[in-house]
Amino acid sequence: MNDKVQKVLAVETSCDDTSVAIVDLNGFVVNQVSANQDLQHAPYGGIVPEIASRNHSVALLPLIDHVIKKSNMTWTDINGLCVTNRPGLIGSLIVGIMTLKSIAQAYQLPLIGVNHLEGHLLAPFLKDAQYQPPSDFDYPYIALAVSGGHTSLYWVKSFSEYVVIGTTKDDAAGEAFDKFAKMVGLGYPGGVQVDKTAAQGDASKYNFPRSLVLEDNLMMSFSGLKSSAHRLLEKMPKEEIETERANLCASFQEAVVDVLVSKLLKAADRYKCRKLVITGGVSANSRLRQRIEALSDKYQIVVPPVRYCTDNAAMIGYAGILRLNRGESHGLSLGPSPQLYESDFSFDLQ
Ligand code: KG4
Ligand code: ZN
Repeated sequence: MNDKVQKVLAVETSCDDTSVAIVDLNGFVVNQVSANQDLQHAPYGGIVPEIASRNHSVALLPLIDHVIKKSNMTWTDINGLCVTNRPGLIGSLIVGIMTLKSIAQAYQLPLIGVNHLEGHLLAPFLKDAQYQPPSDFDYPYIALAVSGGHTSLYWVKSFSEYVVIGTTKDDAAGEAFDKFAKMVGLGYPGGVQVDKTAAQGDASKYNFPRSLVLEDNLMMSFSGLKSSAHRLLEKMPKEEIETERANLCASFQEAVVDVLVSKLLKAADRYKCRKLVITGGVSANSRLRQRIEALSDKYQIVVPPVRYCTDNAAMIGYAGILRLNRGESHGLSLGPSPQLYESDFSFDLQ
């Protein structure tokens, strides 16, 4: 009899997406269901933490019921529970954690709290009925995790061995996209709208700065780019911003993508690694995908499908099931832990 944890139910509520998935120990996603809160936050131009946690508390239990029914399962088919407990918005984290603690108690299931970023880093192993990664993909690899809250490069040596090798000194790339979208009069969330608008534009029309690209390190910065866009747009009449919107978006997007791609390649060079992964919400960006995929003659590129790149429960389930099968679990003492890296990662920032 195999006493390994075979299937887990996982929950992700660290920010504004409520996501629930059932995942097996090979990274196969039986089902994932998610609720997006964009419409509720849009009037405020950004995420309002109190609204996020209230929405999680309304959406989470119905989503859990739904994913179990959709998978034709009952609780007896689930052998463990995984929930993001760090980092994230404290109120949002608490909703996911308290819900799974109640279920763990009711059904006597082991529970593990997962680092959200470890989830993003392991997303390239996820598979489902429609998608699978290349069969020879494995550790070690370089991962660029790029989202609204984080922009960092990692040397992923093996499961649970993650080295932060580069990071942004200021804003995350997704945050820069969102702020720029606001400046050019696009709604929230901005990244995806900049991406769509840029498709009609000329990326060489405006020359935005590519901070730190010439420096021989893996550090990034997007605040100079944001200020430069602000200074340019301040001088432009509203009508001109409207007529130039596509060119502005394409030029801004190209600057962000140039920085990300150049640092990713520098990392590959430094660690002599031919396997590259991009993950996190910004990896949904079509220009970034295009530029990364163009490198596939020299590198093995794995970009998970968008459903596993943006915040999702499947990645939390996979990280969690691996940890449960190593004998780790938190049980009912689990709490939210807002701090980011300290004990989960090591650092090699030169
Ligand atoms: O990983 P994610 O869903 O949540 C965080 O952990 O932050 O990432 C959300 C970020 C937002 O800043 C959003 O604007 C950005 O990802 N994003 C994009 C695109 N889709 C989402 N940025 C650029 N182009 C896109 N297509
Ligand atoms: Zn994320």
